[in-house]
Amino acid sequence: MTLTVALAADHGGFDLKQQLLTWLQNQEYKVLDLGAHELNPSDDYSDFAQAVSQAVAQGQAERGILLCGSGVGTCVAANKVAVIRACLCHDTYSAHQGVEHVDMNVLCLGARVIGLELAKELITAFLKARFSGEERHRRRLKKVLSLEKGAGQGGI
Ligand code: RB5
Repeated sequence: MTLTVALAADHGGFDLKQQLLTWLQNQEYKVLDLGAHELNPSDDYSDFAQAVSQAVAQGQAERGILLCGSGVGTCVAANKVAVIRACLCHDTYSAHQGVEHVDMNVLCLGARVIGLELAKELITAFLKARFSGEERHRRRLKKVLSLEKGAGQGGI
């Protein structure tokens, strides 16, 4: 099955996103380019985090990739959307282990921190990885999902 990947960046990640878009389109993935479609120094990372997170949450894409200057803003914003598990990973171990153990579904990258070749390696590690499905990982993930449903605020 061809994996569909939603990709977006604010102005801080725009140039790197454009390079990664071309590269990803030449891989075995289907890519949804959710912007920015032109460099706008006034755009907001939260809008792109919302677009990618909704595409993943609504099943239009299996995975998401977000870029901003540091990767932090998009990561914070993406995690506000239910069922999104977004992580800022600048090492390849976390980029695949986050999927294998935690079912991470959105990778955030800081375009002012890393270069094109490392970004490609991180994305490859992220997209090739699969959730292990092991009991201990499912158990922990279930607890994380209960936090999303309000357990952390005195709910269930
Ligand atoms: C934009 O200047 C910058 O703040 C944004 O891209 C991101 O790094 C925020 O975390």
